[in-house]
Amino acid sequence: ISLKAFNTFGIEEKTNFLIEVNDNETLTEIFKNDIFKENFFVLGAGSNVLFTKAFEGYIIRMTSKGIQSKIDGDDVYVTAQAGEIWNDFVWYCIEHNYAGIENMALIPGTVGASPVQNIGAYGTELMYVFHECQAFDTHTGNFATFKKEDCNFSYRDSIFKTAHKGRFIITQVTYKLSRTAHINTTYGAIEAELAKENITNPSIADIATIVSKIRVEKLPDPSTVGNAGSFFKNPVVTASTFEPLQKEYPTIPHYPMPNNETKLAAGWLIEQCGWKGKEYGQAGVWKNQALVLINRQNATGQEIYNLSEQIISDVANKFGIKLEREVNLL
Ligand code: EPU
Repeated sequence: ISLKAFNTFGIEEKTNFLIEVNDNETLTEIFKNDIFKENFFVLGAGSNVLFTKAFEGYIIRMTSKGIQSKIDGDDVYVTAQAGEIWNDFVWYCIEHNYAGIENMALIPGTVGASPVQNIGAYGTELMYVFHECQAFDTHTGNFATFKKEDCNFSYRDSIFKTAHKGRFIITQVTYKLSRTAHINTTYGAIEAELAKENITNPSIADIATIVSKIRVEKLPDPSTVGNAGSFFKNPVVTASTFEPLQKEYPTIPHYPMPNNETKLAAGWLIEQCGWKGKEYGQAGVWKNQALVLINRQNATGQEIYNLSEQIISDVANKFGIKLEREVNLL
């Protein structure tokens, strides 16, 4: 079975088995058939994976749909099934005037994947609106509830990528949103765009529209150019690493983090190594954002992987920093 339609890199690799999960009963059924004792991998929209070889086992695609909300004063608890497309969910909330996720418009992927790497963009992160999620335990066959404090969220990270990696399948997520907008324009490009368009009192729809516009300008559309968004994480470094770097490169983009650490922009580091817009066989680095690796046409996953190794090595040689992949390698 070809996986090409199920990964946004558009990589042509195969899997032995593909199961679509529309409801909780299907998971229980799969458990009873001992499939979770085999090699398996759970896919949402396939927007954060790179297949580098044929997958020996079961690909489980989460396709369940449905959204419900419960209003509680100024708060609203919105529960969406794992297979809902994230951006559709964002616009559903905007249409109902539920505020809090408008800055994350147009992030590719599904609701079920959103807590796994604590998705984030343009001034916010999922953890700020996450209330709880329900997940299926592939070890025991039971469903469990994870509250926010159970998830160990941090930058592009959660317990579902660390201690519980590969164990739980998120089936639904509840977000705590607000019926009053708290407009967040901390990300500079949003301010600039608002000024350009003469919007002084933006609505949440305005914010989502502007963020979408910025994304379309910077990031390739997976339906025409295969990609998985940022391929690497932005490195978070200690002061003793940062200070000498800033001396040598006074314009280095940097953002303060807790514990006296600093987040650097991987895209900038990669661009400084000369990779922006470069081709590498059928793979390449996106011309408007060096953090995004692309499938120019018929790249294999291995080719994209090789390019990523080359970039990691060049950045390490020039800056002494080891980039980590954000994308899952399979
Ligand atoms: N930069 C360069 N060259 C480049 C790319 C970026 O010099 O080729 C510089 C920019 O000028 C800026 C800094 O690097 O000073 C940061 O760039 P940008 O604001 O575009 O964001 P990013 O740090 O590269 C992160 C997220 C994106 C998210 C944006 C906006 C990660 C790994 N990536 O990228 O998320 O959309 O911020 O908030 O944290 C994703 O995870 O797939 C993703 C697209």
